[in-house]
Amino acid sequence: MQAIAERLSRAPSQVIAVAADVTVAGDRERLLDEARRRWGSLDLLVNNAGVASFGHFDSSSEDILRRVMEVNFFAPAEMMRSALPMLMKGRQPTIVNVASLCGRRGLPGWSEHCASKFALVGLSEALRGEFARFDVNVLMVLPGLVKSEDLGRHLLRNEGRMPQLFEKAQPPEEIADAIIQAVERNRRETHVGRQARWLLRVNRWAPRFVDRLLARKVRKLYPE
Ligand SMILES: NC(=O)c1ccc[n+]([C@@H]2O[C@H](COP(=O)([O-])OP(=O)(O)OC[C@H]3O[C@@H](n4cnc5c(N)ncnc54)[C@H](OP(=O)(O)O)[C@@H]3O)[C@@H](O)[C@H]2O)c1
Repeated sequence: MQAIAERLSRAPSQVIAVAADVTVAGDRERLLDEARRRWGSLDLLVNNAGVASFGHFDSSSEDILRRVMEVNFFAPAEMMRSALPMLMKGRQPTIVNVASLCGRRGLPGWSEHCASKFALVGLSEALRGEFARFDVNVLMVLPGLVKSEDLGRHLLRNEGRMPQLFEKAQPPEEIADAIIQAVERNRRETHVGRQARWLLRVNRWAPRFVDRLLARKVRKLYPE
């Protein structure tokens, strides 16, 4: 956090760094208060914080499900609600919710993550319509697998057997570029990476084929 703050403070724009746990209402308010004090209004809110759990649902726990939902769904939901008055005073105000390929297609091993991102996608679509009356855009960016520095550290559980093709994963910079492009072009939904685009396209036309493919893989990985 400190290292990022220092790096950003060397950038030409005005940067402030505020440490916050997005699942804590007081922290979210403190974040927005800081921005209000500094800028008065908001042009862009990017909900990016996220956690995941990798492994099968039957051997997971209620605690993990709730933690994933807290960070990936309730936090961005309440962030949008609280930031709305400041966004309404901004220039071409936009919200970008970083969801996932898992928010449009359920994937075995990622059940909690999928549930939270589907919820975020549904909420984003609904709010796009509602916030139209305030001229606040709501966009979604859906990456496939990303080579994140801390991916392993933020997995609440890492017990899945499905091999993750990290050599084909996207560098995080591509997700950052996709977010910027989505804002510049006011693109409602951006799928980032060949893997995400391919799977979502095939799934749109042949969901049962994708179901069968995934089920076959799971049966092979979990023979009894
Ligand atoms: N990695 C992938 O393959 C992938 C694929 C699709 C979508 N995504 C989505 O992309 C977004 C970024 O993920 P990433 O890949 O960059 O993962 P990451 O490297 O694990 O980073 C997650 C970020 O979220 C922050 N965070 C987690 N819980 C938080 C909390 N309670 N309060 C405040 N910040 C919190 C972390 O902050 P600290 O470091 O301070 O804990 C970290 O900066 C997430 O929404 C994720 O679901 C990732």
